[in-house]
Amino acid sequence: MSISKKLFGTLPGGEDVYLYTITNKNGAQVSIQTLGGGIQSLYMPDRNGAMGDVVLGFDNVSDYQDPDLGYQGLLVGRFANRIRNAQFEIDGEKYNLPANQGSWTLHGGGRFSFSLWEAAVCGENSITVAKFSPDGEDGFPGNFTMRVKYTLTDENVLRLEYFVSCDKKSVANPTNHVYFNLSADPKKTIEGHTLQIDASYFTETDSQQLPTGVLSPVAGTMMDFTCPHKIGDRIDEPFRAVIDGVGYDNNYCLDKKYGEFARAAVLYDEESGRRLAVYTDLPGVQLYCGGWLAGSCGKGKGNSKVSFRRGVALETQFYPDSVHFPDKFPFEYICPGKEFKTVTEFRFTAE
Ligand code: BGC
Repeated sequence: MSISKKLFGTLPGGEDVYLYTITNKNGAQVSIQTLGGGIQSLYMPDRNGAMGDVVLGFDNVSDYQDPDLGYQGLLVGRFANRIRNAQFEIDGEKYNLPANQGSWTLHGGGRFSFSLWEAAVCGENSITVAKFSPDGEDGFPGNFTMRVKYTLTDENVLRLEYFVSCDKKSVANPTNHVYFNLSADPKKTIEGHTLQIDASYFTETDSQQLPTGVLSPVAGTMMDFTCPHKIGDRIDEPFRAVIDGVGYDNNYCLDKKYGEFARAAVLYDEESGRRLAVYTDLPGVQLYCGGWLAGSCGKGKGNSKVSFRRGVALETQFYPDSVHFPDKFPFEYICPGKEFKTVTEFRFTAE
């Protein structure tokens, strides 16, 4: 095990961004950057032991701040995914948020992901990143801190432990927005990856992808990943909860009980043999296949591209817009004096 730190780049405003790299005994490696506390690269072995970077991203640090490039690998807060009408209430008090997409809030407005986080080495195989957000920032109540401990184990598990605290009753939906391409070759789309999601229901959405409050069965629809099959098999089928031409960008309601730490999804790339199992204690996972990324933005690490369907995000989360369905969806408020904790693991194997 070793941890190193180096300068990653400098933002247009002059701030330096650092990269912390943890390497395990197998040579597997994760690099965490101080911009958005994000996963910048993740090297995992294929079935022959060859290491490859299985996540999308950029060489140029300022590309990470472009919301149209999809929050690559970044941590998201205070509240991931959508909030209808960019407002919500707690105990009769109304809070107005930035409407940074249409009439709704996406990913808390973006500031959390696109700013610098504090980082510190924490033990021989962990890095902790933290972000403070003052009371009222982007409309959210309370002085709020989100801390995330990244650990890379010798078993090729990347563990993300989130710790959230606030001095007022508030809301949080922490996630990481990393896009996987297990082939380690982002010239390939992820349509050939096999996916299984342990969810029999998804959150029904309206024409703007905002939850209606209804949970619908996946059975008999293109949404069904209860048995493993290729992402590309049905991705372009017309379906009421999917935007034409975009493909999957939907929240799945995990079958396990909220709070239970268990498997949520398995992603597999037959060619490389790399398999990723996602475990979480959160109740939902957003399957997003990069369908909003432009066809040819031509950036990306090395000569690669971060473009249409080159990566798949499996964002563990509370269901989108839970703040409007706190009694109907599994949800927990952040309360003063009580730290909120959640864990997600990305477990890699090769076969
Ligand atoms: C959303 C997508 C969005 C992407 C990048 C995902 O969580 O569901 O609609 O394009 O994040 O912002």
